Amino acid sequence: MDVNKNQISPIRVVMFPWLAYGHITPYLELAKKLSTINFIIYICSTPATLSFIEKKITSKLSHSIKLVPLLLPNLPDLPRKYHTTNGLPPHLMPRLLEAFESSVDDFSYILADLKPDLLIYDFLQPWAPLVAKNQNIPSVLFYTSSTTLMSLIFHYFKNPSIEFPFSDNIYYREYESSEKKWLLELSASNSKDRELVFGGVERSCEIVLVKGFREIEGKYIDYVSSLVGKKFVPVGPLVVQEHEKDDEISLDVLSWLDKKEKKSTVFVSFGSEYFLTKEDMDEIAYGLELSKTNFIWVVRFPKGSNGLLDKTLPKGFVERVGNRGKILEGWAPQKKILGHESIGGFVSHCGWNSVMESMNFGVPIIGVPMQIDQPINARLVEEVGVGVEVLRDNNRMLHRDSLATIIKQVVVENCGASVRRNAADMREKLRSKGDEEIDEVVKELVELCNKSSTKK
Ligand code: UDX
Repeated sequence: MDVNKNQISPIRVVMFPWLAYGHITPYLELAKKLSTINFIIYICSTPATLSFIEKKITSKLSHSIKLVPLLLPNLPDLPRKYHTTNGLPPHLMPRLLEAFESSVDDFSYILADLKPDLLIYDFLQPWAPLVAKNQNIPSVLFYTSSTTLMSLIFHYFKNPSIEFPFSDNIYYREYESSEKKWLLELSASNSKDRELVFGGVERSCEIVLVKGFREIEGKYIDYVSSLVGKKFVPVGPLVVQEHEKDDEISLDVLSWLDKKEKKSTVFVSFGSEYFLTKEDMDEIAYGLELSKTNFIWVVRFPKGSNGLLDKTLPKGFVERVGNRGKILEGWAPQKKILGHESIGGFVSHCGWNSVMESMNFGVPIIGVPMQIDQPINARLVEEVGVGVEVLRDNNRMLHRDSLATIIKQVVVENCGASVRRNAADMREKLRSKGDEEIDEVVKELVELCNKSSTKK
């Protein structure tokens, strides 16, 4: 890293990530990067979320990263285990959001003790700039999904009747026609959803950090920055591996992979928040079977659904695939698996963290997007040339044959050579760039804190 840690005095940063794993991960990764350059980071979240973090990843957090529990006094009737989105029934989500919003005074009190210089918050915590204002410190939004989607959303909010300027691209044209109605409704309404999507960006944050890098999203970063009138600073792909635990599952799966040929195996995983339908599960199982490719498949079920693997997978599937397939229930050490040399493809829902991780390890993507930003991320992956999307039919159904064909194409066949090469080139590009973006982020944050302290 270029920034000399002795050149800056310690900066104390309070972070308010949202309570879902896909949002917390980038905050932890950013914290980890900043903590090596003389930043002290306080990650503030509910005890249920912090204990989830501790269980999954953080056996080795440095002493400069501290986890601060936030109690939500305004949720007395909701058991504490639900004060997190992993396991929270979706209909209770608005109550969780409201509880945060109405706790601004309590959080300001906690913050005063920590004496922070800066606050970094997720867009799903749009109340956070008020806490920063109470402390007289600057606030920075850290947006963890793709900026491409953000630029599309802001475009429809600001210019609903004008075509998205990048509509010459077939992928966006297609996305626009299927999702435009939702985007227009969202940007026009005065609903809570609208406030959530726009509030965190429009309120008084000084700059916006975005997970990603200019080589793939530069034009969207510039466009949304011009629409919002704020500086957008990419933080890079932010893939930090060291904080993952070495548990039994990791050791078992990695030794299974050790016995497979180089680039022979696909990793199949759909993130931490959304669940496949029974129909999708079937098509994926049969698609994997037809592809004749080795695979590791992480199968997840909603909490309390008593999803039994034997009942869910097609009859005889496990026996038929034999040692060609490994099924893990619930969770897998994704970054370790993607970094293994036997992996030749990633069947992914294209959650933004998964996309960044795949690019980081040079693994081509077979995109099976589900919701929110995932369809547009899948299109960006194709635009960049590091993956292929498995298109659904007009009824949004997935087909086993299409999945099998694309797996074979991306992993072994000659027609997929350019995708494999592009993915490998991307890995090299990211390696050679190193922490270029983080250096820029540090400069911006230091400048912001200096400006704010001279004003005090
Ligand atoms: C959510 C949204 O679904 C996604 O579209 C958005 O971009 C971010 O928030 P999620 O579905 O969890 O995220 O997907 P993703 O963004 O890919 O993040 C998942 C993270 O969990 C990744 O860092 C991945 O490495 C990790 N993970 C997931 C595991 O380590 N093991 C698993 O078994 C599953």
